[in-house]
Amino acid sequence: MSVDQRCRLHAETLALDADTALDDYVPAAIVDHGELAARGVAYKQLSALGFDLGERSATLAVDGDTLTLLDGLDHAAVVAELAPDALSDLVQDRQSTMGLAMTARVKIRDGSLDEWIRWEPALRALFEGRPVYESGAIAMLDPDGAPLDLDRRFTLDDDRDEMAHFMTEAGFLHLTGVFGPDEMAAVGTDIDDSVAAARDADPEYWWCTDAAGDQVAVRSLNFQEKSAAVRAVLADERLTWLADLTGDDHVPPETCEGLVKPLDIVQGLSDLPWHKDCGQGLHSYMCNNLTVGISVTGADRVSGALGVIPGSHRANTVGSMRDKDLDLPSRLLETATGDLTVHCSDTLHRAYPPSAHPRKVVYTSFRLAPQAGDRIAPNPRYSREARSELTSVQDRIAAADNLDADNRYVPHNG
Ligand SMILES: [Fe+2]
Repeated sequence: MSVDQRCRLHAETLALDADTALDDYVPAAIVDHGELAARGVAYKQLSALGFDLGERSATLAVDGDTLTLLDGLDHAAVVAELAPDALSDLVQDRQSTMGLAMTARVKIRDGSLDEWIRWEPALRALFEGRPVYESGAIAMLDPDGAPLDLDRRFTLDDDRDEMAHFMTEAGFLHLTGVFGPDEMAAVGTDIDDSVAAARDADPEYWWCTDAAGDQVAVRSLNFQEKSAAVRAVLADERLTWLADLTGDDHVPPETCEGLVKPLDIVQGLSDLPWHKDCGQGLHSYMCNNLTVGISVTGADRVSGALGVIPGSHRANTVGSMRDKDLDLPSRLLETATGDLTVHCSDTLHRAYPPSAHPRKVVYTSFRLAPQAGDRIAPNPRYSREARSELTSVQDRIAAADNLDADNRYVPHNG
């Protein structure tokens, strides 16, 4: 069993200039995967996509049963203005269409931001040969070939092969009663203390606005540096055994984030909408890492439980929202104190806003060990500072197709 879907090495990433990208790289991808991508473009009814690089421009369009790259923008319905280095990142899955919008590296001149983002699965078909998801293409089965019971919960005493099978098929896992109430109470106290100590705009936290207009800290970054109780949890074999769950050589976590989910948040990244953790890009280099939520308090329908879309980790579908045509049903993972939720980095998931009472959760990640021969250079886009700056990302996304936003687009901003 495996959830390792990687098909690219960090060490092989190229810095493509406009001519190399448009004259060599994209045409080569069309030779390899043009028909597969064209099928996805037709299935999703996407309009021709223009790239305006300033010095050069070109349009990706359907031509019979494959794609073609036309000079200029005469046939483009969606036009994205971006620097050559941003196109280089896009075609090599360093950043997705959404990732470029989130970092203000693209401006949508014609068409909409939504159309631009909806191109992502077809681009992945073109550049990595991953078929665009079509309704009915995924069946989730138990080891006997019957439909998988997607409401199944596990305990640490259950058969680990069955858990690995469930994880591989469905892309998530719910483990009950892993940690005790006292252990979770100690972690909860440390989250409270950390958040109470946060001062305005402290970059060690993500900040949100509540209904009263106040700024509240909702996520304590690098929480392992602030809590001995959570360090003990991270090192505990009731958690660390997950590194061996799917046989993919995941690495036990060294960092985590402590979250509070307050009531009445009106703006900010407290309750994230449907997304994949690779939704900003890098799927081909990182999936599937395993993200683990440790329920410091329980989470139910009225306290903001985690939602997942079983099977979506096997679907090349938009990773920064839920495609309205996606036929995979969602599940709400209602947890008790001490439960774990585990999901693949390519599984669509979301946090629902709490409506009756707040909750607390710690998130951590088991990453895949680097592939043989790979070398991962520090990436400023995924640095500690970049994680901190995500707190204002909603403004930048909105700015990507808002003509009046002064933070709309900054050429060559890295
Ligand atoms: Fe996530």
